[in-house]
Amino acid sequence: MIIINSIQQLKDQLLLFRKQKKSIGFVPTMGALHQGHLSLIENALKECDLVICSIFVNPTQFNDLNDLDKYPRTIEKDAQMLKKAGCDVLFAPEVNEIYTEQELELKRQKVEDTSWTEGKQVDFGSLDKVMEGAQRPGHFNGVAQVVSKLFRIVEPQKAYFGQKDFQQLAIIRTMVKQLEMPIEIVACPIIREENGLAMSSRNERLTKEERKRAGFIFETLAKMKKLKNNTSIAELKTFVEAQLKTESLIKLEYFEIADAETLQSISDLEQAKSAVACIALKIGEVRLIDNILL
Ligand code: PAF
Repeated sequence: MIIINSIQQLKDQLLLFRKQKKSIGFVPTMGALHQGHLSLIENALKECDLVICSIFVNPTQFNDLNDLDKYPRTIEKDAQMLKKAGCDVLFAPEVNEIYTEQELELKRQKVEDTSWTEGKQVDFGSLDKVMEGAQRPGHFNGVAQVVSKLFRIVEPQKAYFGQKDFQQLAIIRTMVKQLEMPIEIVACPIIREENGLAMSSRNERLTKEERKRAGFIFETLAKMKKLKNNTSIAELKTFVEAQLKTESLIKLEYFEIADAETLQSISDLEQAKSAVACIALKIGEVRLIDNILL
C-alpha cells in the first residue's frame, strides 16, 4: 500500500493508474477505523481495480471544537488495517493541504461558506434542515465541502459510504447530482457489534459498561420495527421514547420516522415509498446515531 500526504503526489499516482485503464474506488474516512470501514474497502475491492482510502479529520464538519479535539487519531493502526485489507493507496493529508487559511477562518466565524460548489448551485432543500442538520448547524455544509474537494482530487468512478450516516448519504447523493459529478455513490449496510451497537469510531470513547448497555439502542429499534404493521407512527415513537427512558445511561436527542428519500417526517407509513427510523442520543459524553429501514 502506498501512503501519500500531498495532493500533487496523489494526482501523479492516479494519472499512472488511469493510463493503465484501472477503475478507481474511493473510501473517504476520518480514520479510527473499524470493521464498518473495512467492509467499505471490501466492497470497493470487489467492484474496482484499485481502492483509495482517505483519512482526514475534517475540521469544517465539527460544530463542537471539543468534539474535534477528542476525535480519535490512530493513523498508524489504521494504516496497518488498510494494508491488511488490501487497500492500494492511503491518502492522509494535513489540514493545510485541503483548506486555505481563509476557508478555515470562515468556519471559525461560522460563516456558511459555499465556495466549494465552484460557482454551481447546490440546494439541499430541507434535507440538511432536519435531524442531524437541525442538531449540528453547518455540519453537512462541512461534509459536502470536504467530500467535493476529495472527489475533485481523486475523481473515482465509485465512492463508498456506510448507511449508518443515512442523512450524510442523502446529502452526498444530492451534491453529486447537482454538481454533475460522474461518480456512483454506493451505500453499504451498517455493520454492528455483537450486541447490535452500530460500529462507530466514537464507540471507543464509551466505557466497557456503556458499550455493553448501548446494545439496547438497536434492540429497541428492532422491537419497534416488529410492531410497525399494526401500530401508528405516533405510537411507535412513544414506544421507543418510553423504552429508552428505562435505560438510565441513555439521553435521547431525537427519534424520527421519515421518508427515506426526502428525510421529512411522516405520520403514516403509507405516505412514503420507503421509510427510515433515525435516532440520536447520548451515552455519557458520547453522541451516537443509528437507523433502521422500515
Ligand atoms: O463519514 C465520515 O467519516 C465523514 O463524514 C466523511 C464522509 C469522511 C467526510 O469527512
